[in-house]
Parts: sequence; C-alpha cells; structure tokens
Amino acid sequence: MGRTERAVRLQSRKDGNTKMSIRIMGTGSALPARQVDNRELAGMVDTSDEWIRERTGIGSRHVSTGETVVSLAVEACERALENAGRDAASVELILAATCTAERGIPCEACQVQSHLGAKQAAAFDLNAACAGFLFALHTAWAYVEAGIYDNALIVGSEVLSKLVDWTDRGTCILFGDGAGAVFVERCSEGGILGLVQHSDGAGGGVLCCDSRELQSPFVNRSMEIPRIRMDGREVFSFALRQVPAGILEALEKADLSPDEVDLYVLHQANRRIIEGIAKRLAVDISRFPVNLDRVGNMSSAAIPVLLDELNRQGILRRGMTVVLSGFGAGLSCGACVIRW
Ligand code: COA
Repeated sequence: MGRTERAVRLQSRKDGNTKMSIRIMGTGSALPARQVDNRELAGMVDTSDEWIRERTGIGSRHVSTGETVVSLAVEACERALENAGRDAASVELILAATCTAERGIPCEACQVQSHLGAKQAAAFDLNAACAGFLFALHTAWAYVEAGIYDNALIVGSEVLSKLVDWTDRGTCILFGDGAGAVFVERCSEGGILGLVQHSDGAGGGVLCCDSRELQSPFVNRSMEIPRIRMDGREVFSFALRQVPAGILEALEKADLSPDEVDLYVLHQANRRIIEGIAKRLAVDISRFPVNLDRVGNMSSAAIPVLLDELNRQGILRRGMTVVLSGFGAGLSCGACVIRW
C-alpha cells in the first residue's frame, strides 16, 4: 500500500468509518533440534523426572545450539507466510516479541525483515516477556484499527537457555527455546473481539534478570553475568489471581461468557497453573490444550507455537471462539478473545 492510500485511509478513519479488526491468516513455528529431557537435567541439578512432571507438567524442552533467536524467528515467519499463502514482499509491519535478543542493535525484527526480504515492512521489537506475543498482537491490532497498516507478521522468539541459571533447579527446569509466528490481516468481521492488558511494575522483582549479557570487559571483566531469578510461588499466585480476572474482563468486552469459548490457548508456564485457571473459570480442562510437556515455557514463543500446532492439526477451525492469554515477568498479563 502506498503513502497516499495510507493517508486516505487514515482520513476516512477520522471521518468515523467502521471499526476494523485483525484475523490470523497463517501460523508457523520453529524449534531447535537439541532436546533436553528431565532425566538429562537430573544429571545437571538435584532434581528428578517425577518431581518436574508432578510440579510443572514439563517432560522435555528444546535448547538452541546452532540456532539463534533470529534464525528461529525467520523459520517461524516463513512458515506462517507460507501457511497464509502470502509472500514477504506484501508484509507491512513486523513485530518481534522477545526478551532474549542476542544483539543490542539492530533489533531482532529488522534482522528478520532483512532475512525475509520484506522490504516494505516497518519492523521493531517489543519486550513484555511471557506476555510479549499477546502485547505485540494487540499492537498490530491497534495499527490496523487506526488505518495505518493492512497486515502484520508477529513473531515470538526466545533463547531462554542462554539466560537461565543452569545451576538453579528452581528455574532451569521450566524454560525452553523456540519461535512461533502469525500473519494477520485486516478484517471487518470477527478477528479480535475484545482485549485487555495489565502491567504491575511494582511486582517486577519476583521474576527478573539484571543482565542481557551486555557486559563490557572495560567495566568488570570477571563479574559473573546475572541470570534469571524468580520467586516461583509468588509468580504462581500472581498467575492464578490475574489471569482468570483478565480473561473475564476480555470476555466481558466481547460480550461472551467463559462457557461460550471453544479453546483457551494460554501461556504454557505450568500445568498446575493452567488447571487452576480452568477451575476458577469453571470450564472443563479439555478446552485448555497444552504442549508444555514437550517444549516447556518458551516465554513469548509459547502461545504462537501452540497456535501453530493446533492450526496444523486441524483443531482450530474458522468460526471458533478462542481466548489467548499471556502472563509473566513485568509483571504483565494480557488476554484477548478472537473469532478464528
Ligand atoms: N527438583 C526438586 N526439588 C525442587 C526443585 C526441583 N527442580 N525445585 C525446587 N525444589 C524444592 C525446593 O527446594 C523446596 O524444597 P524445601 O521444601 O526443602 O525447601 C521444595 O521443592 C518446594 O519448593 P517450592 O518452590 O515451594 O515448589 P513449588 O511447588 O512452588 O514449585 C515451581 C516450584 C517453580 C515449579 C512453581 O512455583 C512454579 O511453577 N511457579 C511458577 C513459575 C513460572 O511459571 N514462572 C514463569 C512464569 S512466565
């Protein structure tokens, strides 16, 4: 779309034209080849397969060796575009959600743009940790609603294995690497029906990392790089408190009740958290698909990777009502209701 067309669309929006939304037209994902199961982890820290499965539901996770946050993102984006039947040249906006960008600058989204050859697209990163994909999706919705862009490629890509403390059994058992992407387009019916986003910066200390490995040898050569620190119980209770409340708020905006939702695609942090949320919403657990047993918590990649699996398995069908909810460090929490 040219600049003149964009300006005309912006003007017509100002004149009070109809509301727009975005529809997910294609999904894609990419996981590193190397898998680390609980038994292998038990050789690294004092833990066991039984303990991890019982407390988290996680059995294995993927860990990047040759892959990078960008290479995983590019692969996921290419698959999403292919799935949508669109080519990179038509992409107008690329949003990369990540908290594990390997380079300070340029941003991950610009590197992805370059690899894809999506020359027309504006590209930038967004860091809202495990809520990142959802916040990026909402950002794309806002751009489309404002009449600025017609479509967007949104990718959540993480290499958390490079940020976790592999000597801390309380955190290293949880996380995994991967990338998931969706291609969205403007639509006048369906798409996102209601959304909410909440942030609680005052609670940020319960899940944090004081470094992104941007260490200068001129400042402190021997300093140990700070790794992810977490108060697991606090994060657990935050999720059980905030996620059901956020989902109910988004549902209210969409004028729907919890039992009218076909699928709840939630951030994959811990099976017990998902079970607790289902219970609080009084919705049967069968409507909450999980893949964390195979991939662990992939932060911003968790929701789009699960969406891609469900899409490719034919479980997601057009017309279905789906709730997405992401939550985590920040503390941040978001939810949206979409008509698939
Ligand atoms: N293997 C074996 N024992 C472990 C362990 C492990 N991997 N990790 C912790 N323990 C021990 C603790 O040291 C503690 O021992 P103690 O009683 O002798 O002190 C005991 O297990 C209980 O620890 P606790 O932290 O209370 O366990 P928990 O049931 O809360 O489970 C988490 C810990 C991290 C799995 C859980 O709190 C959790 O998943 N929280 C949410 C974290 C999350 O999802 N973060 C990302 C959000 S996006």
